[in-house]
Amino acid sequence: MENKNANKHQNPAKTRLIPVEFTELNWRFWSFVLILVLGIYLLGLFQGNVSDAVSKFGLTDPWYSPTVLVIPFVGLFRLTCYAYRKDYHRHLFDHPVACELNTRQDKLGRAYTGETRFFRVENFHRYFMYIAVAILPFFYYDFYVSLTYIPGSITLSIGGIIILVNTLAATIYTFSCHSIRHLVGGRMDCFSCTAAHKSGGKAYRFQSIFNTHHEALAWTSLAMFVFVDLYIRAVAAGIIPNLHMVL
Ligand code: FES
Repeated sequence: MENKNANKHQNPAKTRLIPVEFTELNWRFWSFVLILVLGIYLLGLFQGNVSDAVSKFGLTDPWYSPTVLVIPFVGLFRLTCYAYRKDYHRHLFDHPVACELNTRQDKLGRAYTGETRFFRVENFHRYFMYIAVAILPFFYYDFYVSLTYIPGSITLSIGGIIILVNTLAATIYTFSCHSIRHLVGGRMDCFSCTAAHKSGGKAYRFQSIFNTHHEALAWTSLAMFVFVDLYIRAVAAGIIPNLHMVL
């Protein structure tokens, strides 16, 4: 009990329900929140263009596909992803501070608060992963729509190909998830153990190829979502043509 109290004394940040990260004046975090709110507002404001893109060009914006209904869960899947988690704890909240460089001159020796108190939500990542996997087929369906929106023919367009590339990027990112690594590794915490190799050796090694690049995949996939959105809006607004061939 004494030890427990001593730890609490050393790490006051871990005892607060509302993390100190959300209550202090941190321009990095609040700039991020501002950009996020602005982005969501703009997505809501310019929906008209996107509906035109579906009816005229067969292009479904991934932000507005039926998956929009589960976007909060997908957002939580991304927010609790180890790759983004590392980035926002380090770069938005500025800790744990690397290499003893105390850039915020935080004399309190702040403790890392990931997966504690409010941030326990990060532990639900493994469950959000199932939702993220479940919605992937909808993105493939969006590609199918881009191929078949002209009745009786197959239409191959640049927009359709971009939707496919985005979907593949999202798929590879999702399946490179650490939670999936845990599943295919035999749900064991010791991957060097013989039993783990027996239960999931090949699948585990195959998944590791992608898992090694998980952070790069996370950012590439997110950038692709933004790119597809901008491309489809530009096509719908008549700024660029959606080059295509009808087979
Ligand atoms: Fe990044 Fe699961 S750890 S998606």
